[in-house]
Amino acid sequence: MDALKRQAAARALEEVESGMRLGLGTGSTAKHFVDLLGERVRAGLKVVGVPTSEATRAQAEACGVPLTTLDEIDRLDITVDGADEINPALDLIKGGGGALLREKIVASASARMIVIADETKWVARLGRFPLPVEVVPFGLAATQREMGDAFAKAGVSGPMSVRKSADGHVFVTDGGHWIVDVRLGEIEDPPRLAGLLSAIPGVVEHGLFIGLGSTAILAGAQGIRVIQR
Ligand code: A5P
Repeated sequence: MDALKRQAAARALEEVESGMRLGLGTGSTAKHFVDLLGERVRAGLKVVGVPTSEATRAQAEACGVPLTTLDEIDRLDITVDGADEINPALDLIKGGGGALLREKIVASASARMIVIADETKWVARLGRFPLPVEVVPFGLAATQREMGDAFAKAGVSGPMSVRKSADGHVFVTDGGHWIVDVRLGEIEDPPRLAGLLSAIPGVVEHGLFIGLGSTAILAGAQGIRVIQR
């Protein structure tokens, strides 16, 4: 599986040209991209990157990829990031790694978002992967009640759990928030659910990426598939 992730990352690197401003994703697949990008930078490629997490920032710095922020530049050319699920509309579930907020900000500031993945992430309908919802800890129970109402309106339901780290403590995002993972099953209308969740005050962001993915690069045993929206 790791070899397939690296193949998808290598194919995405073919889209990168000197002078580009890049969003650098988070997760095991994006990690391959940053690694390969670092090799090209050390060989002379001139790019600048905006990392989507502290983990990616540390990796990019170690690889020698020059970094900037969205305060210093206004637009990015391409963001390359992984996903937990990708559907045929190139809508995504992201946030399995907990970086969904910065990932969405960076993807939204990009002319193109290239999603790289092994083919197991391709689904007919989103929702098998638990939907991550980033929330503020204050008023958590009230926020979860409103989330339940939003799910009911969108015709889905499922158990919610506050994400824990491996050490048993509550997982805290780079932004200082918590994540509620929701096991929904198939989501019939992801854009509608996305809108309902975004309207809840205690929800900082959710892992439904609607209309952001422009290209998916899927690596499988039979080769690489490139899907454009
Ligand atoms: C990080 O928050 C996520 O959105 C990741 O991009 C997503 O979970 C995919 O990660 P992998 O490439 O490790 O599967």
